[in-house]
Amino acid sequence: MAIPHIEKEVERRRTFAIISHPDAGKTTLTEKLLLYGGAIHLAGAVKAKKNQKNTTSDWMELEKQRGISISTSVLQFDYHGNQINLLDTPGHKDFSEDTYRTLTAADAAVMLIDAAKGVEPQTRKLFEVCRMRGLPIFTFINKLDRPSREPLDLIDELEKVLGIRSCPMAWPIGTGDRFRGVYDRISNEVLFFESEDRANQSGRLEPKKIDANDPDFWKMLGGPRGDLDEAKELYETFRSENELLEFAGDQFDHAAVLAGQLTPVFFGSAMNNFGVERFLQRFIELAPSPVGRVGVYDQRDAEPVKKVVVPTSDQFSGFFFKIQANMDPAHRDRVAFMRVCSGHFERNMEVTHSRLGKKVKLSKPLNFFAQERVIVEDAWPGDIVGMLDTTGELRIGDTVCTTAGGASVFEYQGVPRFSPEHFAQMLIKDPMKRKQLQKGLEQLAEEGVVQIYRQRGMGDKDPVLGAVGALQFEVLQHRLLGEYGVDTKIEKMGFVHARWVVGSDLRPEEFDRREDTRCLEDRDGQPVILFKSDWSLRWAVDNHKTLEFRTTAPEIRGTGKKK
Ligand code: G4P
Repeated sequence: MAIPHIEKEVERRRTFAIISHPDAGKTTLTEKLLLYGGAIHLAGAVKAKKNQKNTTSDWMELEKQRGISISTSVLQFDYHGNQINLLDTPGHKDFSEDTYRTLTAADAAVMLIDAAKGVEPQTRKLFEVCRMRGLPIFTFINKLDRPSREPLDLIDELEKVLGIRSCPMAWPIGTGDRFRGVYDRISNEVLFFESEDRANQSGRLEPKKIDANDPDFWKMLGGPRGDLDEAKELYETFRSENELLEFAGDQFDHAAVLAGQLTPVFFGSAMNNFGVERFLQRFIELAPSPVGRVGVYDQRDAEPVKKVVVPTSDQFSGFFFKIQANMDPAHRDRVAFMRVCSGHFERNMEVTHSRLGKKVKLSKPLNFFAQERVIVEDAWPGDIVGMLDTTGELRIGDTVCTTAGGASVFEYQGVPRFSPEHFAQMLIKDPMKRKQLQKGLEQLAEEGVVQIYRQRGMGDKDPVLGAVGALQFEVLQHRLLGEYGVDTKIEKMGFVHARWVVGSDLRPEEFDRREDTRCLEDRDGQPVILFKSDWSLRWAVDNHKTLEFRTTAPEIRGTGKKK
């Protein structure tokens, strides 16, 4: 029997994350989006995290000390009947595997780019993760009110640097001091730019608009002084750029957008709240609602079978993509964040934990907002629910599902581990605390704070730690001390790349002999090679044609079984 309303509930959901380089304006954009959803009423409520005040996701001691958001949570709001789930990814200089993993719970990504800077390194890394998953990507080019690079240049860069085709949905007229607004290529309207201060003074809620076919439109490009020469010049540039886009640009193709092959591009200024609402509207129109995900069904005596589980299925299912211990230091609790993938989630529901093969009751589902915890009564595909993990049994990548009506148990394909770029060994100040250290390391590795690699033949002794961002080591030390009472020292190692290696010809000694490479094992006993430079990685790839060097670990799925 179909679940009432499920189609409608799935259809109205959009679950996405914003990817960007620090300072591109993610906090500012998030804040404006939340204002549209009425989720916050005070401008600056999100921003305040930088000033170390109460904020939406600022709960960890270290975050408070540094005034940054290290953890990831979800911001949910309603916009004209649509349920928006914005996965909040950390926006500080450093970033962690958490950021990558969050993208596995998203159905789309918004790539935010600073118009003066173009594609920056962190955006590129995050983009690669989105591409790996085939996520649809929407581009918002921000800070047009400031001196910017040529818009055509920026578009070109998307293709050259990221290798993605793009289709501008809007086009800016002028930039910086001469930024006059954006032309909406779909509605054929020009939206005139006004700084937020000026817009507030005039009490205008929406930007002034004009049809681009209006013969007098060009005269309005003269800015506050009404300079007609300037107006003419801006208009000519606008016209020739648009002609170029018409003839040489990629045509809009919704299927290509949904397949992650074409990115629709928007322009605006988040700080001035200009272009943001139009972007949100188009995003809702074009971004996908939750789609089916591949489930793996174990067979007794045969290879597992893979089948797509549709969100509108009667069978409830979800997977855990993030675990956070000690969210509330007073309670020392552990919260596992679940993405609902199919069916209807209801509080106190009994589900099967696929990896452990046992029934569990989901009795403490939570939502977090502005440091408040709210019990969730129900949720739909695309929603994120925090689950209080009282038994400590949940792991990243775990699937839960119902089995009513004889539905089979399955697991979603795992959440991959990503190759770290920072490596270190840990020294303990008090050797009596070795046991606590081991326990802490294991738990925090499970959360994904760091990855642990064994040195071959040394068992669990003196492991090498790997992190996607260097700040993760600081987080690790801070938490080991605060939560496990272990004071540690970190000794950084000179490696910069790690690759999981697949192939029967691997001879680990060959890599251990060299000064610039080292062969280790991950928690599942899979070989991982560390490299000290781009050059040594290239050398290995060129000279070992029979080996495959992977940037992500084979799936985490079923780690419990392997252990
Ligand atoms: P992030 O989360 O991506 O790191 O960026 P954030 O929103 O904090 O923005 C970084 C800086 O860029 C902030 O300035 C912010 O005000 C500014 N900014 C964001 N969007 C725009 C825009 O559209 N135009 C202009 N001109 N600036 C923008 P700040 O000086 O670091 O902070 P604040 O003093 O403004 O708070």
